[in-house]
Amino acid sequence: MDTINKRMLIVGGAGFVGSNLSHYLLEHKEPREIWIVDNLLSSDIYNVPNDPRLRFLFGSITEDKILHALPTNIDIVFHLACYHGNQSSIADPLADHDNNTLTSLKLFEHIKGFKDIKKVVYAAAGCAVAEKTFDHARPTLEDAPVSLFHDSPYSISKLIGEMYGNYYFQRHGLPFVKARFQNVYGPREILGAGRWRGTHHTVWRNVTPTFIWKSIQGEVLPLDNGGNASRDFIYVEDIVRGLIACAEKGQPGEAYNLASGVETSIVDLARMINAITGNQTPVDLRPARDWDRSGKRFGSTEKSRDQLKFEAVISIEDGLRRTVKWTMDNKEIIQHAISTHDLLMKQQSISS
Ligand SMILES: NC(=O)c1ccc[n+]([C@@H]2O[C@H](COP(=O)([O-])OP(=O)(O)OC[C@H]3O[C@@H](n4cnc5c(N)ncnc54)[C@H](O)[C@@H]3O)[C@@H](O)[C@H]2O)c1
Repeated sequence: MDTINKRMLIVGGAGFVGSNLSHYLLEHKEPREIWIVDNLLSSDIYNVPNDPRLRFLFGSITEDKILHALPTNIDIVFHLACYHGNQSSIADPLADHDNNTLTSLKLFEHIKGFKDIKKVVYAAAGCAVAEKTFDHARPTLEDAPVSLFHDSPYSISKLIGEMYGNYYFQRHGLPFVKARFQNVYGPREILGAGRWRGTHHTVWRNVTPTFIWKSIQGEVLPLDNGGNASRDFIYVEDIVRGLIACAEKGQPGEAYNLASGVETSIVDLARMINAITGNQTPVDLRPARDWDRSGKRFGSTEKSRDQLKFEAVISIEDGLRRTVKWTMDNKEIIQHAISTHDLLMKQQSISS
């Protein structure tokens, strides 16, 4: 069954994952139309494809004028908007609420009666359900018990999004599918994209692009907690294929991990990146971040493999090589996005 060559909506479609998704769909799936809603809070218009099938609505999905501008005959919805990321949400929990919780509620409430919708795929966060451990990590299963104690408003909001979606599924029959991402990396993640969100993590938004950028400049790579933590890194093209698999084959009401299933320590990630770029500067072993108890984790791939026929196929070595190349090729755009926050970053480091 190919349900994808239809009219689609990508909320948060200018972002890192959303822009990779729209580029892939336009190249491989012949969509009739793709509607993107994005307020460019953590993204750059540079990433949005220029294509006559694509319509871009600039604004928040919480705004009634945006919701009412959407067609009612949408087939597939991908909901990828969030307030990026954990540290920004700690700095401004209310902004997180507006862009990470209210977003899901207003969207689901608005589309609950749309008759043509085949699937609503939600970008859920594997980190919000993973066990907190610095010992031996076990693969996180989709039905793992979820704690009521969380380290960031971001994590809480991602779970509330799942819960609202489950409610609209049960009460209104919204065909809601949860795609639980592990740690995504790859081309089109622009450091510093979007507006200042209160801390230098507006720029240093994720470990992989941060390490790649610093490594290319020959800088030291900072390893919080000595780089002892581990993550399941999944290349963005694999995530995009996983999202499409959720849209085509996901069962409404179900959650699916989009994971590589491979556990990689942060110190190994740093070494791999330095080896690719040729950076000889030694890494900097630092203490743990005060808010972060996340430790070691990786996702189970069994359910997605069995039920969606989805498997991540890009190895971390290959994915990192491609991401380093993309970063070198897009240095100017990244530098420009970083520079827009220079003054605020300097002010922050003076006051802290
Ligand atoms: N990247 C990862 O490793 C990862 C891991 C787990 C979950 N996720 C989830 O995947 C999704 C995409 O993540 P990403 O890495 O592409 O982040 P991103 O910040 O690049 O993309 C999020 C997009 O949402 C937009 N947005 C924010 N508030 C909005 C609003 N009110 N209305 C409309 N658009 C709004 C942003 O401008 C941005 O374009 C997010 O929901 C995120 O929580 C990502």
